[in-house]
Amino acid sequence: MPTTVNQEAVNDRPVIGILTQLVSDEAMQPFGRTYIPSSYVKYLESGGSRVMPIRLTLTTAEYENIFQKINGLILIGGAADLEKSDFAKVAKIFYRLAVMANDAGDFFPIWGTCMGMQLLTVLVAQENLLECTTAENIAMPLNLTTEGTSSRMFKDFPDELMKALTSEPLTGNFHRFGVTVKTFQENERLHNFFSLLSTNVAENGVHFVSTIEGKRYPFYGVQWHPEVNRFQWNRKLNFPHSRHAVQLSSLLAEFFVNEGRRSLHQFDNPEEEDSSLIYNYTPVYAANFTAYQQIYFF
Ligand SMILES: *[C@@H]1O[C@H](CO)[C@@H](O)[C@H](O)[C@H]1NC(C)=O
Ligand SMILES: *[C@@H]1O[C@H](CO)[C@@H](O)[C@H](O)[C@H]1NC(C)=O
Repeated sequence: MPTTVNQEAVNDRPVIGILTQLVSDEAMQPFGRTYIPSSYVKYLESGGSRVMPIRLTLTTAEYENIFQKINGLILIGGAADLEKSDFAKVAKIFYRLAVMANDAGDFFPIWGTCMGMQLLTVLVAQENLLECTTAENIAMPLNLTTEGTSSRMFKDFPDELMKALTSEPLTGNFHRFGVTVKTFQENERLHNFFSLLSTNVAENGVHFVSTIEGKRYPFYGVQWHPEVNRFQWNRKLNFPHSRHAVQLSSLLAEFFVNEGRRSLHQFDNPEEEDSSLIYNYTPVYAANFTAYQQIYFF
């Protein structure tokens, strides 16, 4: 648990928002225009949260309204332009709202996974600093930094898991681009904003940023995919499923949902809340045409 938990106020019915992704894959097109893989939804649900899917076609006023109701946001992996896409534009609206809210003492966490983490670095650096750091379909241990060991994200992990995290391939990587350690250290905006918790080495030998957390803000980023450890099973992909991999995924889901518990945003009434949640949608079986098991389409 974070050391600075607001003792007088805990929200045990958190709702975390997930921005949908635009469908680009041809095989997915018959099902809808945007989607969320169910693995991210299950990941959050397993931590004790509910999920609100957030479409990319709403107005700024509508996003401002949603922001006042949800208790955190996850930016998921996928493939979108990190400056010009609707995904990037909507993420920027939420990012700004979250910065302002946290500055005003209104706690609001954001988590970015893979492309979501890359997008967080673009928002913070105010420029796209991505370079080729291919680590495609490979599971690795993390090279933790000193800050990693004492980070909010990892500090309450059991010793055995910490040891496994740095010695066993618990983190699945599926990316071509990333932020190099050199760029991170040279970019003032990035290294003032984020602590570097872990690094890894890409296929081309370049060291890349694999885990970050905000120094002042409850913003978190992982270049790897914690959700696949428990919720994706494609046989051709190196999804870590060991006991430690599953434990890592569970603890990180609980960590982020606990951050969400510190947000007191709420819906205006139960009817509005109920109709906003992902439970209104049914995922489609997708393991025979994508790397996901199930996908929510919108
Ligand atoms: C960790 O860092 C060492 C030293 O830079 C490097 O040789 C090794 O490949 C890294 N391990 C991973 C899993 O990236
Ligand atoms: C995938 O499986 C579903 C259900 O079993 C089936 O209806 C669908 O046609 C399959 N899709 C492909 C692309 O094979």
